[in-house]
Amino acid sequence: MSRFSGISRLAMGVGMTCLALSAAQANTMQTQSPSVEKESFGQLPDGRKVEAYHLRNGHGIDMKVTTYGGIITSLRTPDAEGEWADVVLGFDNLADYRSEAYRQSNPYFGALIGRYGNRIAEGRFTLDGTTHELATNDGANHLHGGERGFDKRLWTAAPFENDSEVGVELTYVSEDGEEGYPGRLETHVTYTLTADDEVIIDYHATTDKATPVNLTQHSYFNLEGEGSGSIVDHRLMLNADAFTPVDDTLIPTGELRDVADTPFDFREATPIGARIGADNTQLAYGQGYDHNFVLMRDATAEDELVLAARVEAPDSGRVLEIATSEPGVQFYSGNFLDGTLIGKQGKAYEKRSGFALETQHFPDSPNQAAFPSTILEPGETYQSRTVWRFSTQTPTP
Ligand code: GLA
Repeated sequence: MSRFSGISRLAMGVGMTCLALSAAQANTMQTQSPSVEKESFGQLPDGRKVEAYHLRNGHGIDMKVTTYGGIITSLRTPDAEGEWADVVLGFDNLADYRSEAYRQSNPYFGALIGRYGNRIAEGRFTLDGTTHELATNDGANHLHGGERGFDKRLWTAAPFENDSEVGVELTYVSEDGEEGYPGRLETHVTYTLTADDEVIIDYHATTDKATPVNLTQHSYFNLEGEGSGSIVDHRLMLNADAFTPVDDTLIPTGELRDVADTPFDFREATPIGARIGADNTQLAYGQGYDHNFVLMRDATAEDELVLAARVEAPDSGRVLEIATSEPGVQFYSGNFLDGTLIGKQGKAYEKRSGFALETQHFPDSPNQAAFPSTILEPGETYQSRTVWRFSTQTPTP
């Protein structure tokens, strides 16, 4: 399938190496059959039941997804020595995702984001001569779909399983006018866990009126294990030679700025923390990295997967590679985490205890004519794919 040929072709282009498995890891990697099981994940105040789907592949990698917000609540992978850890921030119960403390800090842990990932300036855009007003839930701006975006909606689920893959297809219908957006939007997101230790996220949407759509996934990773401290020593490669600088409310100015000679140059793997404290206006605006990077793709490869990012955890040797059909990725270094939320292991999620790499179209595209369009028309199908691939390499503390 194209996802594999696409990722390996591009991976070769940016120098991905073939990684050897340790003996311990090879041992853990043979034993189980892939499976998907449904579990209860509680109930909403109106009585609707919330479920969790527990996916496992043949190597034992397991991931839990809840129908509330399409949230990935846990994702366990082995390190270079075959030790397992949960590598995403989150909670093991529904109440913690709905608590007042969570609502206040609103980190969108592991959630599906829609209708529009990231910000729309002043919650306003004009389409075909009509101005639409959206909720302003981030200062003067609209963020991640509004007051109740897709991350706070109940999705329906259909699990599936075949010889090599397991997964769950989630569906949510957003009615015309929801959160101020025009058109009835029917959205399907499929999570597939493959035999190659990949999580594939496929997005499809259709509408009955022209409307902006920019779906993404907001997992926070800590490849040393969630709750294990800061992510600043993780080494990050971003396949981007430009980023979209922002104003002090994190709205893009419209410029595509060259990353060369700036703290935004991650073309060579660099520790996240190496330049995060630099005296730089863009870093000051984001309180760290909170920026959209423009992915490099050749002219013929539009819509094909490109390798967007590669992240290495120095102590555990875990590696995450992210490929996407999207033109951009928001790299967010967990700057707004402040220790008030307590994670699955009872440890506080402090500033920079996780990072997000949200594959996406660029923020505020409905107001930026020069950015790739995010407008979905009736009769068209929105399609987008992102692949996370987990592997290990020799630790390099
Ligand atoms: C995105 C935004 C950030 C922040 C996080 C969630 O990354 O760009 O500013 O809202 O989501 O806290």
